[in-house]
Amino acid sequence: MGTAYFNGKLLPKDEIKISPDDRGFLFADGIYEVVRWYEGFFYDMSSHMTRLKRSLRELRINWPEADSFPIFAYDLIKLNKLENQPAMVYLQVTRGAARRSHSFPSPEVPPTVYACAWGFVPDSQLKETGIKVMLKEDIRWSRCDIKSVALLPNTMSFQEAHENGLKECIFVRNGFITEGSHSNIFFVIDGTLFTHPESNHVLSGITRKNIIRIAEDSGIKIREEALQENRIRLIQEVFITNTSAEVTPVTELGGNTLGEGVPGPVTRFIRDKFDNEIKALKG
Ligand code: PDD
Repeated sequence: MGTAYFNGKLLPKDEIKISPDDRGFLFADGIYEVVRWYEGFFYDMSSHMTRLKRSLRELRINWPEADSFPIFAYDLIKLNKLENQPAMVYLQVTRGAARRSHSFPSPEVPPTVYACAWGFVPDSQLKETGIKVMLKEDIRWSRCDIKSVALLPNTMSFQEAHENGLKECIFVRNGFITEGSHSNIFFVIDGTLFTHPESNHVLSGITRKNIIRIAEDSGIKIREEALQENRIRLIQEVFITNTSAEVTPVTELGGNTLGEGVPGPVTRFIRDKFDNEIKALKG
């Protein structure tokens, strides 16, 4: 089970008790973050902290100790003996436990804070061969910019992809491609990189932000513009990004084979740049 963090303490996971009245349980009234440990450092922890604080602010969840996250995240890596392997740290903060009511607890109750860590083996094969993904109407709410734990539309859609042998579900809202169930998406058209602009319809991914920086630094033209689904035939390359899968090429989108059906040159260039940045950070 390992060691987890719960409300200020590091303790065996199986000793954690969460109230059935917790608003995370009753209303999915909470937010989360996922950070990646690379055998020696957390990638871009400062951006994760900025997004964490923004999510808390947007939902008006008061967690005064938010700045302690990088410290106990590292404690979790050490205590679970994950220092020398790829690992993830998951953090969840809910509005706390109170008798069920749609209004926020008054007086305010302390938030419930839980974090855990796990090691994993990255799927380097998929980053090499690419993946096939499906397209589906975006059935989520209109505040996808908040990293809320209310992920039922995401899990339902991802499950549909999974049951069809596909690796991600990409959402389409009002005819425009937004993002994946747990990833952002980029397109290459005639050498220019496109991705949906930051908005209430997408999560502002930390990997997305860093890929935009890497592309700009490499002289690749980038346009933060939403792409219409009916322009798929113009697309030569697609890749998705997130904290765990980094840059993963897409070879088939909604049944349409992209380019030659193998990861294209711009995608491979960006994937390699990202991998080299990680290598350099490892030192
Ligand atoms: N998900 N969009 C959505 C809807 C996401 O859930 C995620 C990440 C991203 C990419 O964000 P980032 O680059 O910061 O990981 C975009 C995480 C990995 C998850 O839910 O497990």
